[in-house]
Amino acid sequence: MKSIASAPAKIILFGEHFVVHGTNALLAAIDKRVTVTSTFTENKTIKVNSELGTIEVPISSSHEEVESEFRPFVYLANKMIASNQNVNGLEITINSDIPVGVGLGSSSACCVAAASSIFGLFKKLSDSEILKMSREAEKTIFPDLSGADLYVCAAGGIIGCEVDNTISLHSSTPSVSYEISANLVIVNSMIQHSTKRSVEKVRRFKENNEKRFSELCDLVTKLIGDDGTRARGGALDNMKNNDIAALGLKMTENQKYLEEIQVSNDTLRDMISSLKEISLGTKITGAGDGGCIIALVEDKNLDKVPALLPKDKEYFSAKIDTKGVVWSTIEE
Ligand code: PMV
Repeated sequence: MKSIASAPAKIILFGEHFVVHGTNALLAAIDKRVTVTSTFTENKTIKVNSELGTIEVPISSSHEEVESEFRPFVYLANKMIASNQNVNGLEITINSDIPVGVGLGSSSACCVAAASSIFGLFKKLSDSEILKMSREAEKTIFPDLSGADLYVCAAGGIIGCEVDNTISLHSSTPSVSYEISANLVIVNSMIQHSTKRSVEKVRRFKENNEKRFSELCDLVTKLIGDDGTRARGGALDNMKNNDIAALGLKMTENQKYLEEIQVSNDTLRDMISSLKEISLGTKITGAGDGGCIIALVEDKNLDKVPALLPKDKEYFSAKIDTKGVVWSTIEE
């Protein structure tokens, strides 16, 4: 039997970095996916095949014994094997069209799809089980992340996320089904970033600027408009009313906060300013210091994008993917 699960990439519309410190964030799943296929083998090994390479380790190996990019898969395999007798081996294959290391949630999507696929050899996991397992798996490489990405990769659509300090993630806006009637243009700086390093840098900024950081957290919460009162005029409200001009202005405002906490750089600023005349709002998405930006661009201006961008950057127009994790099995 093959157990197959796929999960989408994500963008962060508002609130990256601040979400690590307890504010809300607004995220969207987009139409690029990773697919993880798991099968039993008789080889007494855990084998993982991905574009990053292949590993095959004895079935008793701990995740700590393998290179970091393979750890979540071995962790999940171990967990599954520990709770099910008679597993003689496992092969896990990852196929992805999500660019790696540029803020589109590749590792979170992998963890979500892997949890669903590996455990799916025995049973369909519930959404909350997928979140729990993928969170544990992601922590084997990124112990300090918020986990917000996992939520949107599992659920799909547009989601407001709030993360408390325990394992639990909860969506503050569980049923946001708004559409954004403009294009979300994603531009890749082609500079890979280290989320871990950027998160550490922001933590230092916070330690040295406690008061300002707390003000910025409040500003982000207000920007999203999800401060418990569903504040009028916040981004959620703008989406509901299809006010893309106001939404764009908020993205630009959010970018100012990201500049202030120093996760931007000249390359990203150049990319943002190159789209200034046609974008309703542009910001970093994800950790920054490289990675991608998102620009909100109306249909009438979409064909102007390539001429405005620096030649060495890649771009695409993302569609919101309302499907989160999708699981199926094939009997062989
Ligand atoms: O760049 P990415 O996809 O790794 O996103 C990181 C998002 C942060 O808010 C910076 C970290 C987090 O844990 O939420």
